[in-house]
Amino acid sequence: MSKPLLIGPFTQLLPMSGLPLKGALPDEQLVIIEQGGILISEGKIKALGIFEDLKSDAVDIHHIEGQHVCLPGFVDSHSHICFGGSRARDYAYRNSGKTYLEIAKAGGGIWDTVTQTRKASQEDLIEGIISRSKIHLENGTTTIEVKSGYGLSIDEELKMLRAIKQADKKTQADLIATCLAAHMKPKDWNSDKNYLEEIASNLFPQLKSEGLSNRIDAFIEESAFSALEIAPYFKKAKAMGFDITVHADQFTTGGSEIAIHFGAISADHLEASTENEIQLLANSNIISTALPGASLGLGCAFTPARKLLDAGGALAIASDHNPGSAPMGHLLTQASILGTFEKLSNAEVLAGITFRASAALNLADRGILEANMLADFVVFQTDNYQEITYHQGQLKPNMVWKKGEKIYE
Ligand code: NIG
Ligand code: FE
Repeated sequence: MSKPLLIGPFTQLLPMSGLPLKGALPDEQLVIIEQGGILISEGKIKALGIFEDLKSDAVDIHHIEGQHVCLPGFVDSHSHICFGGSRARDYAYRNSGKTYLEIAKAGGGIWDTVTQTRKASQEDLIEGIISRSKIHLENGTTTIEVKSGYGLSIDEELKMLRAIKQADKKTQADLIATCLAAHMKPKDWNSDKNYLEEIASNLFPQLKSEGLSNRIDAFIEESAFSALEIAPYFKKAKAMGFDITVHADQFTTGGSEIAIHFGAISADHLEASTENEIQLLANSNIISTALPGASLGLGCAFTPARKLLDAGGALAIASDHNPGSAPMGHLLTQASILGTFEKLSNAEVLAGITFRASAALNLADRGILEANMLADFVVFQTDNYQEITYHQGQLKPNMVWKKGEKIYE
């Protein structure tokens, strides 16, 4: 058996450990280990501390030259990177002032991506996911949630979820699949049966038997599904043991209350949440997820991240990378910009893309650097962690490690 590997010294090692899951987080609470080292074995962290203290004859050493800051690998807890085609036309229409209705009439919107995704083969989708994951990985994201939701029939949703499962085997990032068959009512649904009932009865069991996903999401919005329509759907999902996550309060409210009622792991978007929803979310165990990429893509308000944190809520920040509302897909840029507009500390931004995001995926083995956690970490060539958000994503990681393997340098 090979010896454990000691990596370092890092000018600053930020384990993001010992911090609360909920509430405001001043930078003074961050633990910074100077001249730190990480000892890894079999993909996991064995120990963490001052580099010199971890040195011994029993370890191999990967020496880091120069000034570096090391953080947990980023976790993107909300993305739609499985899709076909492009919606550049929607973007141009939006920027020229066209309304949602005009764009839909011109053949745009989510349904356009559904049409283009249905035309793509499973292999095409796998390739798309892998190439997008590679960019995310190089930007420091080692775990990426990926939703279906552009299939909107049992067979097409299965195609997407199977593509995500296959892509997960072929990329070094961990892909966490979520079933978003409740993204909108399929325009071509011409059965007398209720679409959501059909999905729950015929797709949910298949997700279990093929091990395709353990997470059910729904878009609760006037243009998609009402809270009333979603309640029996979530009830069935809960009864089958799925984790629930919700696209909530993006343009109108109602979604976050349903999310809390069904004990969802996370409620995402929340741009339209008012004081009432903010209080309810903060008093619950839910992770509230801001998606600044959608605000930037649509030219809309940001999620009230400051208010959510000050009320005592748990805030994750995710990219929402999708071809329609959030085509940029650069998590660190978006999280940094959210910090600028919402007045978030560095600790709050970094918590939002590390341990608070892993909580949004119900994953207890990442997002923090400490013994027994996955050896997933990202390294930036700088002597000061504040430089990372300051450069708003333009300071690129110079190394990314996933499960103890250096996968990018
Ligand atoms: O999270 N809000 C709904 N769904 C996506 C947008 C998907 C699309 O426009 O294709 C979102 O922003
Ligand atoms: Fe989304």
